[in-house]
Amino acid sequence: MPEKILITGGSGLIGTRLSEMLIDQGYEVAHLSRNSSKFSKYKTFRWDIKEGYIDDNAITYADYIIHLAGAGVADEKWTEERKREILKSRVDSANLLYACLQKTEHHVKGLISASAIGIYGDTGDHLVSEESILGDDFLAEVCKAWEASAWQVKNAGLRTVILRLGIVLSDKGGALPQLARPIKMMAGAPLGTGNQYMSWIHIDDACRLFIRAVEDYQFEGVYNAVAPHPVTNKEFTKELAEVMHKPLVLPKVPEFALNLVLGQKSEVILASQRVSANKVIQTGFTFEYNYLDEALDSFYDKELK
Ligand SMILES: NC(=O)c1ccc[n+]([C@@H]2O[C@H](COP(=O)([O-])OP(=O)(O)OC[C@H]3O[C@@H](n4cnc5c(N)ncnc54)[C@H](OP(=O)(O)O)[C@@H]3O)[C@@H](O)[C@H]2O)c1
Repeated sequence: MPEKILITGGSGLIGTRLSEMLIDQGYEVAHLSRNSSKFSKYKTFRWDIKEGYIDDNAITYADYIIHLAGAGVADEKWTEERKREILKSRVDSANLLYACLQKTEHHVKGLISASAIGIYGDTGDHLVSEESILGDDFLAEVCKAWEASAWQVKNAGLRTVILRLGIVLSDKGGALPQLARPIKMMAGAPLGTGNQYMSWIHIDDACRLFIRAVEDYQFEGVYNAVAPHPVTNKEFTKELAEVMHKPLVLPKVPEFALNLVLGQKSEVILASQRVSANKVIQTGFTFEYNYLDEALDSFYDKELK
């Protein structure tokens, strides 16, 4: 019998690719979603986080749960209401999963939850590991609350893995197309000082890591999900322009301009996070994309120039 994986937020960027990769490897996949679309390729159970509702069949279906759901951090301006949504969509959803696991007879063997390297705050040039001090800005507080809510499942006796994702690189969405757009329009430039570190991971490596966390029982606790070689924003912008065969003509985009346009959300692109992949490497996991040029080539060497 193939193992059954229930993915919350499975319709998103990571969930879509992860679902394909799981199916290719012989798993059965279902999504737990706010909308049960008839057109989804996957069996879809519905939940309503605000109403505290989950279709109980979702929990009885699953051998493993992968928790990805959350309101997009970079999608909208950070009003107080949006910030509440960013927090509650992650924390209330994990609380709901936990409550449902407590009250339902089930055969779930583990929970793998996403988190983000934003938990470290702005760490400058300092290389941070899973043991490092955590930050205290908005995203760090969100991640701390998100991890604490996921961690309840561990306290209830299920194997729990938390993957602190770096910037997930994909040509289908997320940060990369947004960073590429100005370069494509001949208006690419480093952001702020350009010295802030960007700890990235290729989407296929991120998904392989989720699958590994399901399969390998030594995985337990918190892991950074980043490639081994983070780069500065300046290096990232230069590398991206190179693979797109575009010149970088503009000077840096000053920090005050980013603050003006983005408000507090500018934290997302101005905070420096130089994050270590050592703990994951020590498990024996090997990255297909260790260096940024290899990762970018996989997207842009083809047609997207
Ligand atoms: N992509 C990255 O670079 C990155 C980096 C660090 C961390 N992460 C984290 O990894 C997770 C998955 O990332 P992703 O890029 O795949 O995200 P995504 O494309 O934005 O997808 C997230 C999914 O969450 C669900 N969702 C959206 N708004 C929601 C809300 N208000 N309440 C409940 N569910 C909501 C949606 O699924 P339904 O519509 O089916 O409900 C959506 O498809 C996210 O939690 C994200 O914060 C991502």
